[in-house]
Amino acid sequence: MTSLQTWTRSFSGWVVFCCCCCLPLLLTSPLPPKGAEVASTAHHACRLRKINFQQPYIRNRTYTLAKMASVSDQDTDNRLIGQHIYVNIKENNRCYMMKRIIEIVVKDVLLTEAKDRYPYTEEVAQFLASLTSELSRCKFLGHREHIEKNLEEMKRKMKQLGENGKIKAIGELDLLFDYTENACTDAPRKGGNKKKN
Ligand SMILES: *[C@@H]1O[C@H](CO)[C@@H](O)[C@H](O)[C@H]1NC(C)=O
Repeated sequence: MTSLQTWTRSFSGWVVFCCCCCLPLLLTSPLPPKGAEVASTAHHACRLRKINFQQPYIRNRTYTLAKMASVSDQDTDNRLIGQHIYVNIKENNRCYMMKRIIEIVVKDVLLTEAKDRYPYTEEVAQFLASLTSELSRCKFLGHREHIEKNLEEMKRKMKQLGENGKIKAIGELDLLFDYTENACTDAPRKGGNKKKN
């Protein structure tokens, strides 16, 4: 009898112990899977502060430069920057895409002889370079081939147009500005990605 009582008591002791200590441990949610963690970090690195695009001075310089160049660009059939750059590109890779396009425009266009032809090119190049350096940790997610394919296509088109390809790229700096703002900042601006004639 005594032994049965002892057994019952120690058994209920274990039940209490299990409920208090083991259950909470089991219920604690496991860490999020590695992939999700990496994805959210990469996404976070692909963000720019809205303030970058709200500085009237550099905004004006960029738009003015674009306007000056587009006056001498008679070709309206070709566009370097447009929705086609996002074909097969996932939403979360758009900012990365814009970062790569900015790098191309700065290196292959703004810092070439174009800077002697138009005013403000160096200022605008500097501003754009500051955006890419803020995006230095921004990496693509998933497959790379569509990104590279679209970038190659843009470079090919620019090269094919020769000197006018560079003028066109400068004439589209306002689009580059807007697309980057929309792709890399939260709460996209309404009426962005406007069409240009
Ligand atoms: C830039 O600023 C100048 C003078 O402040 C103004 O006349 C011009 O319209 C502005 N250009 C653009 C594209 O905002």
